[in-house]
Amino acid sequence: MQTRVIPSSSNESLPIVGLGTYRGFDVAPNDPAYKQLPAVLHALFEKGGTLIDSSPMYGRAEQTTGELLSIHEPRSPAFLATKVWTRGREEGIAQMEESFKLLQTDRIDLMQIHNLLDWQTHLPTLRKWKEEGRIRYIGITHYTPSAYEEVEAVLKAEQLDFLQINYALDDRGVEKRILPLCRERGVAVICNRPFGGGGLLGRLKDKPLPGWAAQVGVKSWPQLALKYLLSHSAVTCVIPGTGNPRYMAENAGAGFGPMLTDAQRHQLIALVD
Ligand SMILES: NC(=O)c1ccc[n+]([C@@H]2O[C@H](COP(=O)([O-])OP(=O)(O)OC[C@H]3O[C@@H](n4cnc5c(N)ncnc54)[C@H](OP(=O)(O)O)[C@@H]3O)[C@@H](O)[C@H]2O)c1
Repeated sequence: MQTRVIPSSSNESLPIVGLGTYRGFDVAPNDPAYKQLPAVLHALFEKGGTLIDSSPMYGRAEQTTGELLSIHEPRSPAFLATKVWTRGREEGIAQMEESFKLLQTDRIDLMQIHNLLDWQTHLPTLRKWKEEGRIRYIGITHYTPSAYEEVEAVLKAEQLDFLQINYALDDRGVEKRILPLCRERGVAVICNRPFGGGGLLGRLKDKPLPGWAAQVGVKSWPQLALKYLLSHSAVTCVIPGTGNPRYMAENAGAGFGPMLTDAQRHQLIALVD
């Protein structure tokens, strides 16, 4: 899988397709869907992906991720990203301590402030923990255009390693100001909701793929929808959410082969608009 450098790092690269755990990993061991999840991780790692994104907001997802990684052989290559999603300094610390336990790790690669909730309070803790080496990178997340003004203000005011934000073929608001700003500020970009929560794929599935899809190594709409995002030079990684091993393998396929030209990207925009 192709990789991209994390701009704030000393040349560390991240594989460009990861995994979102919202919904898909919010399952208990007695749920039949749980049995599929080791194969989802296997598909991610086998194709060279590493980033797994979770949050205390996603029910049991952190715990499930920790359980499955702890039995994964050989030692998992996961790049673990999770979030703090509460108000108050002590509450934030307690929640992040719990994430370490649930994920069964003593180091979290990326800690993000979920939806900017009480970000001024949490940022000093994140900076301190980064200095101490408990977390390696810090970031913020959001999922809706109504938050872009605040996202932009924080990006300008603070030095962050990552922004995680909604970006999909039919949800391109970040292209205007947020993505150029991230490039200017040296902030890595993770695209969440790359299928708009799934709705985008429902609309595309009956349309024929463009004739040039095979030339860019694409066999399906999910792969093409991800490649559209990955073809933006400010994007570091996409994290489609799934609990389905077949979907994970398919999504990871978007991390291979040529990226799209501007003309191909415009054709896709015309098609969805
Ligand atoms: N504010 C935030 O920080 C924030 C907000 C939203 C999301 N996120 C993160 O971003 C991740 C991605 O967003 P999301 O999960 O909400 O939405 P998404 O990735 O846009 O879409 C997920 C949906 O797409 C389906 N899907 C995935 N791969 C597919 C494929 N190859 N073919 C057909 N269907 C496919 C999944 O089905 P199955 O469930 O059947 O696999 C699921 O219903 C989340 O999991 C989470 O980690 C963060």
